[in-house]
Amino acid sequence: MKFGYFDDAKREYVITSPRTPYPWINYLGTQGFFSLISNTAGGYSFYKDARLRRITRYRYNNVPIDMGGRYFYINENGTVWNPGWSPVKTELDSYECRHGMGYTIITGKKNGLKAEATFFVPQDYDGEVQQLVLTNESDAQKTFSLFSFAEWCLWDAQDDSNNFQRNFSTGRVEVSGSVIYHKTEYRDRRNHYAFYSLNEAIDGYDTDRDSFIGLYNGFGDPQAVLAGEANNSFADGWAPIASHYKKITLAPGESKTLVFILGYVEMPVDQKFEADGKTINKVKALDMIGKYDTPAKVAAGMAELRAAWDKLLGILNVTTPDDKVDRMVNIWNQYQCMVTFNLSRSASYFESGIGRGMGFRDSNQDILGFVHQIPDRAKERIIDIASTQFPDGGCYHQYQPLTKKGNADIGGDFSDDPLWLILSVSAYIKETGDWSILDEMVPYDNDMSKAQTMLEHLKVSFYHIVNNLGPHKLPLAMRADWNDCINLSCYSDTPGESFQTYTNPKFKAEGGYSKVAESVMVATLFTYTGPNYVAILKHLGKDDEAKAAQDAIDAMKKAIMDSAWDGDWFLRAYDANGEKMGSKECEEGQIFIEPQGFAIMSDVGKEQGTDLKTLAAIDERLNTKFGLVLNNPAYSKYYIQYGEISTYPGGYKENAGIFTHNNAWIICAAAYAGQGDLAFKYYSEIAPAFTEDTSDIHKTEPYVYGQMIGGKDAGSDIGRPGKNFGQGKNSWLTGTAAWNMVAISQYILGIMPDFDGLKVDPSIPAEWDGFTATRKFRGADYNITVKNPNHVCKGVKSLTVDGKAVTGNVIPAFASGTHEVIVTLG
Ligand code: BGC
Ligand code: NOJ
Repeated sequence: MKFGYFDDAKREYVITSPRTPYPWINYLGTQGFFSLISNTAGGYSFYKDARLRRITRYRYNNVPIDMGGRYFYINENGTVWNPGWSPVKTELDSYECRHGMGYTIITGKKNGLKAEATFFVPQDYDGEVQQLVLTNESDAQKTFSLFSFAEWCLWDAQDDSNNFQRNFSTGRVEVSGSVIYHKTEYRDRRNHYAFYSLNEAIDGYDTDRDSFIGLYNGFGDPQAVLAGEANNSFADGWAPIASHYKKITLAPGESKTLVFILGYVEMPVDQKFEADGKTINKVKALDMIGKYDTPAKVAAGMAELRAAWDKLLGILNVTTPDDKVDRMVNIWNQYQCMVTFNLSRSASYFESGIGRGMGFRDSNQDILGFVHQIPDRAKERIIDIASTQFPDGGCYHQYQPLTKKGNADIGGDFSDDPLWLILSVSAYIKETGDWSILDEMVPYDNDMSKAQTMLEHLKVSFYHIVNNLGPHKLPLAMRADWNDCINLSCYSDTPGESFQTYTNPKFKAEGGYSKVAESVMVATLFTYTGPNYVAILKHLGKDDEAKAAQDAIDAMKKAIMDSAWDGDWFLRAYDANGEKMGSKECEEGQIFIEPQGFAIMSDVGKEQGTDLKTLAAIDERLNTKFGLVLNNPAYSKYYIQYGEISTYPGGYKENAGIFTHNNAWIICAAAYAGQGDLAFKYYSEIAPAFTEDTSDIHKTEPYVYGQMIGGKDAGSDIGRPGKNFGQGKNSWLTGTAAWNMVAISQYILGIMPDFDGLKVDPSIPAEWDGFTATRKFRGADYNITVKNPNHVCKGVKSLTVDGKAVTGNVIPAFASGTHEVIVTLG
């Protein structure tokens, strides 16, 4: 069942019912000011950091769901409604929500009155513009009251949600004309304020929540709206809000356009106030308001936003035999990559914005899907991330975007983290050809006096693995590897201990984690990423270092084949007792997905046929119609030696859920191994556009990936296996976005930036006749035509560039011009 449709020409998903199976959201803003907006206008805004600069308030896990947002209320002769249906939930005569690239348009109609609300964050602008067009489509004159609504958050979202003894006494506002200013703590230590403006005179306002809503009412029945009149309330403590009130009369056919702006302003300390030393200096706010105070200016801002997205999405474009692939590659997957790049895992409808900052591993992986869009921002991000590394190659697991400092409360010692830096730096060089990133001086632990070149950061990353091997010469697992829930040094039996940070005292003496527990996943990630480091060293003429690094990779491959090949697939780990995890010998959790794809892609044991055996085992034991489960059989009880993984009921999250992130590694591996049909099968099992028809089961947005889909075991814990099989969770912020972008564009369609140029090596469904693509790459344009006359999956038979034959499958990088590339498979 569907709840809308794709409008590809406009790059929109059009939602036709407000009662989606879960709130379906969009993101506004890509630079500093961000908003989350659901299909009923719920959500919130923040500046750069969803925890430290929360502008509007949002209550997670609310009842009913998704209460709180930016709302317009209309009261026409006692009929009260919202253009987005919620929160009043008066049945509308029609409803539509269009989520587009950086904007959302919600339109509702009731009794001949149409209200169309457009929300967007313009380019280079710290505010959300909201344009409301009211049209009287009836034959009679209409008179009604309109109210806007936003609830201020007192800046630090964490403190705002728990420090009530203080916060109920600090809230402050100012009202000037049609602009409501939020200035809590501005008098003392904060140099920022927010505002909510309207471009026309108002008939009243409210700034105190209880006056507007009423202590015993809710968002769905605010007393001011029911009364049809504002109170002109002035908040002094309690909960400051911003609501404009306007009486409107429209003749038949008449339209009225109003522009509201929710903005954020930072002021230099010596210019915070007007001459009286008390009143906010509003110069900047007024300047911002002036930029979008007419419908014409709003239209220009929207046009600029569309042009920016045209440019971003103009870098890679494909036309394949499957329009679902085209809409994922050309529109939604790239769009989601921008969002994950900007927000890491901080703020979504499943991430509260206060739990996590930017993840070291997460943000490095996000670069892989984003780097072609704005390489300069990718470079800046890579440097920010690398700056939180320690001189020995270890690193803080997370950092705050506002301060860019590592989070000491989470610390480091996640065994996979350093390797992702090698991958992101390599991806940057492969995309841009800009080797100078290796010469950048980058601090350790944010201390510039300890700065070293980026190349040195790569070296310590690489040797952090080599220098921390266990008894089987495999990498130590430490607190966790990519799978945050395999915690082999935890042995936690006390509620509340964080699996990610708690170390059992028995490992304290060993330096914080077991010196026996080893991760096969990190071993294969090392053999997959390591060759990039070797290639970089060779390019720089550092042959001795390159040889040493290659020796370390070869030694790791040997260790894997000696101790981590289970006969039909690769083991997952050795636990702190030296016992195998992810082996046929185990009672549960016999096979895990994570180590397999990287092993295949780095040819570990290929001469013994490990690649095809492993793919066969995966297909048999992990594949389902909704994607590949992470492990099988699911754990049905708590294994103290494994940690968090076995705390999840079977079929959810890391315990046999369909973790879409690492499905991509298998898609890549299948494509790499020449199994284009298999790669495409796995791709289409989880790609959002392909799940659209089962939105009622899938629940989350059909235009973006979620982190997890309920596996075949979901429900087994309550004796109903399969109950939530196929149900998506944790949409939007997941490494799935970047990795599936890589999987489809670089491995299946095979357009893969490489150090020496653009490689074209497709691995597609045999039935495809081919496809075409346009790619901007290092200053030149490539029109690529892939022909598949013999209906094979993989294998470039010939490649011509501008009519001339090229040997191999790498197009040399031209500095400019448009080049015609013809690739024939066979
Ligand atoms: C989740 C992981 C997540 C980790 C860190 C765990 O509870 O299952 O997916 O990475 O927490 O926040
Ligand atoms: C989500 C986390 O953001 C990511 O870092 C981790 O790799 C996965 N969960 C798997 O645990």
